[in-house]
This record gives sequence, structure tokens and C-alpha cells, in this order.
Amino acid sequence: MELPGLTRTLWIFTFLSVPVAGYPNGKVKEACSSMRPLHGHFPQPSPVHTISVNVTVFRPGDHIKVSLSGPVFEGFFIQARNAENLDGPAIGSFILADERISQLLTCGRVKNSAVSHTSKSKKNHVEAYWVSPTDAPEHVQFLATVVEKYKLFWVKILGPVISQPNAPPLTIPTSITPDTLPTSQPVSHLTKSFNASGCGNTKFCIRNPPKCDPGAADCFFLSFKQNNHSMLIEMSGPSEGYIAFALSHDQWMGDDDAYLCINEDHRINVNTAYLSGRTPPVLDSENGLEDISWRVADGVVQCSFRRNLHLPAYKGRFNLDANYYIFLADGEASEGGLIYKHNRQPLITNGMYNVTDSPKDVGGSRSPLLLKVHASLMFVAWMTTVSIGVIVARFFKPVWPYSLFGKEIWFQVHRMLMLTTVLLTSIAFVLPFIYRGGWSERAGFHPYLGCTVMALAIFQPLMAGFRPPPHAPRRHVFNWVHWSTGTTARILAVVTMFLGMDLPALNLPDPWDTYTMIGFVAWHVGIDVLLEIHSYCLIRKVEVIDDDRIQILQSLTSAEAEGHTFKQIMLTIYICGNAAFLITFLTAIHQV
Ligand SMILES: *[C@@H]1O[C@H](CO)[C@@H](O)[C@H](O)[C@H]1NC(C)=O
Ligand SMILES: *[C@@H]1O[C@H](CO)[C@@H](O)[C@H](O)[C@H]1NC(C)=O
Ligand SMILES: *[C@@H]1O[C@H](CO)[C@@H](O)[C@H](O)[C@H]1NC(C)=O
Ligand SMILES: *[C@@H]1O[C@H](CO)[C@@H](O)[C@H](O)[C@H]1NC(C)=O
Repeated sequence: MELPGLTRTLWIFTFLSVPVAGYPNGKVKEACSSMRPLHGHFPQPSPVHTISVNVTVFRPGDHIKVSLSGPVFEGFFIQARNAENLDGPAIGSFILADERISQLLTCGRVKNSAVSHTSKSKKNHVEAYWVSPTDAPEHVQFLATVVEKYKLFWVKILGPVISQPNAPPLTIPTSITPDTLPTSQPVSHLTKSFNASGCGNTKFCIRNPPKCDPGAADCFFLSFKQNNHSMLIEMSGPSEGYIAFALSHDQWMGDDDAYLCINEDHRINVNTAYLSGRTPPVLDSENGLEDISWRVADGVVQCSFRRNLHLPAYKGRFNLDANYYIFLADGEASEGGLIYKHNRQPLITNGMYNVTDSPKDVGGSRSPLLLKVHASLMFVAWMTTVSIGVIVARFFKPVWPYSLFGKEIWFQVHRMLMLTTVLLTSIAFVLPFIYRGGWSERAGFHPYLGCTVMALAIFQPLMAGFRPPPHAPRRHVFNWVHWSTGTTARILAVVTMFLGMDLPALNLPDPWDTYTMIGFVAWHVGIDVLLEIHSYCLIRKVEVIDDDRIQILQSLTSAEAEGHTFKQIMLTIYICGNAAFLITFLTAIHQV
């Protein structure tokens, strides 16, 4: 298996230590365009090394001697470019003068179009021969990057311009190319935080939480801003390790085009990877990204880069002008930059988007819809319908004794609520299996307890259907089993919900969800105990009245009537509180 972290650590030292044989990491190509060796350190402003050539005029096919000299240095990187387009590709090819200290590199499509060092041995002079191509531009300029020490380097030092015979004078003054201006500005650092102005207007944005400000500590932000055939991509989010996004044809991981900004010892490396499945990504050695910049501040990682809408030369890069689900993930990275699986479910857009189409400002969800429906139905069933159904059966037999459709009202209500519970549970039960396509190994005890609850929930009405008649001798056995099965199911259901709320696929806000759930249990038990005490007192009172045999029947009924009113008030209060808890949880699930 490849070790991406190691590979990446290696390429940081590309300019200092790449051996000749084939650049095992290939990462030097990432520097082909920027000529920047060390992401995260600033280049020196005024160059002290000089490039010289032995001609001023050249013809296609000519060999031209190029020399670089100055104070002792360890690494170097030389290219020739069109003097009128210094940000363009390397031109022509080189022949080595000394194979011990220099090697040929291939930048872009042109073989041997750059020269670099072979080791960090000290040198103060290097030479190479440049071979002019047949389609050479009229003016060619040589550029060099020189590394004196690890953190001390100069980027794109401007060398002499050579011209074809009879070429018109150079039209673009080379000194205004921003990259080559002597500058103390951080080159690979973002100077300021991203902002959301233009979201939905000039750029396509994905934000979580919705409408958050990319500077904020909890804001995940991704934007696409199109400029002709290239796309400027900005991504930021709180992370100790990495932040990443992926373009996907579906809502599952696998066959995705991913872009990762990985924090490695306080430097950010921007990488791409083609995700072939649910396995760790293998980072690409070349990726076609340009203008990479980044910064890390206050735990927020920000990176931006540019890529063409179409990158046919790079395997695994999708065309940007198509419809995709977009994933946003974050996770930890080890010291060496090895990344770990995202520690929570990635944010997934709620639909497929074409980022090159009209700009939008969208959000997403960290929880798949099926699992949100699963959680919502389970909350309705095991927080509300079952609780009210039990209270009605336990306390309302004397309150609602009248018959309705041949059965007492309390029984009708109880049966309806309990069957609703079983129905909701059954529907909710199958959803995670549909989503996962099978059993989830990563959900801990939650699915095991859930299956137990489901089994008990099915068993309960079956048993109730075959209950003995009211005054049969075995009736009390039924009553006891019915009560204990129900109670066991409810306790297990609450435990299952506690576990389920914090599973990565739902992950309600912590520790809010736990406290609110504890609050609900306390509320439920509190009301239950009150009703229990009240019933006990009422029975005592009735017994006392009964025993004295002084009072007439009327007192008995008035005491009972008082008790009934109390119970009905308590039930109303209970239902209101229960509904408040339920709505709170459903809202939280909706917002995940
Ligand atoms: C410049 O150097 C190249 C390579 O050594 C050589 O072929 C060419 O003749 C030289 N040109 C001049 C004008 O010295
Ligand atoms: C947002 O960022 C853009 C590009 O960096 C900049 O031009 C613009 O002024 C910024 N807007 C605000 C409100 O800071
Ligand atoms: C994009 O295209 C427009 C007109 O087609 C041109 O004026 C502009 O310079 C181009 N921008 C870039 C960055 O190439
Ligand atoms: C995406 O949007 C661009 C620009 O509107 C359009 O050219 C392209 O056909 C769209 N792609 C798809 C697959 O709809």
C-alpha cells in the first residue's frame, strides 16, 4: 500500500534531495508552473544569483549555454518561457552539462523542459544547454528558482531575454509580472480570510451552517468562481487535520474526485485523489491545480486554488461543467500528514449541482435523509405515542370507562397509540437497512438494541391479541408479562435512542442532545410518579370512606370526580411537555 504521508513529506524536499531516477513522487511537477519549492515559507525578495546565456539572438534548433551562478546554493530549478507570457508553460528542452549535479525534468508536455539539482551538495555555478524548439516564440526568457537553505530561497529569478532574428521588440515589460516583483508579501499564504460576498451572485457557494461567514470558527465554506475556462475554488473550515471536498455522481463514497487541504506541521498541502471506494484516498502525484495558496489561523484551515473546467490530461479529475453531489469532509491528520477517516459524516449537498451553471448559495446535510426519517419516526414512536399510550392504560381506566365501538375508551386510545407505535417502529426499522444495504458494523450496540426493541414491539400486540378474558385466572399472568415486556421495550428504546443520537450518521449537537434526552426522561418519570402517588392517595381515600361507612355514595363519587379532573389536567400538561420535547428533537434532526 502506498503511504501518502510519506510521499508528501518527501516532496517537500523535492528541491533539496530528489534523486535522478524518475522522481518517485513526481511532485516536482506541481512546482512546474509556480516554480515554488516550499509551500508555507516565504521566498526572499531581491535575487542575489544571476542567470547568463552566451547569445542574445537564437534560431530554432540552436543550442544555447545557460549558466546560473552566485552565492553557494543547494537546489535550483531552471526553465525557459515565452518572455511575453511568463506565466505560461516551459518552452524548449535542455541537455545536461554535468549529470552529477543536474538532472532533466519534464514540465507540461515537453520532455526535458526543466533542469534541477540532484543533491543538496553545495555549488555556486551550474550550466546546461537549452535547445530551441522549432515553434519557439519570438522572445524567450530564462527563469530560475534557487534554494540556498531549506527556508531561504528565491523564486522565478528573471534571466536574460533572447530573441529570434528580426523579431519586433518585446512588448510586455517583464518586470511587471507580479510573481517576479521583489516582494515581501507572503506568496503562498492567503493574506486575508475568504468572504461570502458574491455567494449566489458571482460564485457558487456551499455553506454549513447555512449562510455562515467563512471567517467564523464553525463555518464550513466552499466556493466556485468561474473565470472563462478556469475555476477559482476556495475552501475553509475548522479542522486540526484536513478539510476536503469531493465531486460525486451519487450520495455514496466511491468513484469521486476529491480535493484535500491537509495540515502537515502547520503547512497546508493541497492534493487531489480519486476515491475508488470507502478506502483511504491515495493522493495523486500530479493534479493540474494552480495558484495554490492557504493559511491556518485559529484552528481554521483555508485554501484556495484554480483548475481548468476540463483536465483531460489528469486521470481522475472530473469535468466541472456537469451535475454532482458535493461532499465536504474534515478529519484528523497525523504528524506526517497521513489522513484519517473523517470523524463525522461528510456534509452532502441536498441535490446535484452544476457549479458552472447559475451561481447558487446552498447548504447541505450531514445526515442522509433515510436516517433522518428513521430517527424522526423513532422519536415520535418511543417518545410520544408509547408514553401517552402507557399513561392512558395505567391511570385512565376509571376516568374513561365508557364504551365506544364496543370497547372502553381508554382501551381504544391505548390500542390505537400502541399500534401506531408498532407501525412507526416497523417503518423506521427498515430504513437504515435500505440506506446501508445491509447490517452496519460501525454503529456499535445501537442496531442490536434496536432489533431487540423491534422484536418486543411485534411480540407485544401479538400477545395482547391472545390475552385471556378479564376474569380468567391466567389474566394476571398476562397483565404482568404485558407490562414487563412493554417496560423493557421502552427502557431499551430510550437507551437505543441515546446511542443513536450520537452516531456519526446523525450526530445531533453534543452535549445538548444528551441533556435534553435526560430532561425528557426526568419529565416523564416525574409526571408518572405524580400520577402514581395521586392514584395511591385516591385509593386510600376511597378505602377510608368505604371503611367508615358513614359517608354516603355521593362523597365517594365526588372524591373520584376530583381525582379524574386532576388526572386529565396532568395528562394535558404531560402531552404539552412531551410535544415540546418531541418538536425540539425533530427540529434538531431537520437541521443536521
Ligand atoms: C553557445 O554555447 C553553445 C553550447 O556550448 C554553442 O553550441 C554555441 O556555439 C555558443 N554560441 C556562441 C555564440 O558562443
Ligand atoms: C471579499 O473578497 C473579495 C476578493 O478577495 C474582495 O474583492 C472583496 O472586497 C471582499 N469583500 C468584503 C466585504 O470584504
Ligand atoms: C476572460 O475572457 C474575457 C473576454 O472573453 C477577457 O476579457 C478576460 O481577460 C478573460 N479573463 C482571463 C482571466 O483570462
Ligand atoms: C452545466 O452548466 C453549463 C453552463 O450553464 C452548461 O454549459 C453545461 O451543459 C451544464 N452541464 C450539464 C450536465 O447540465
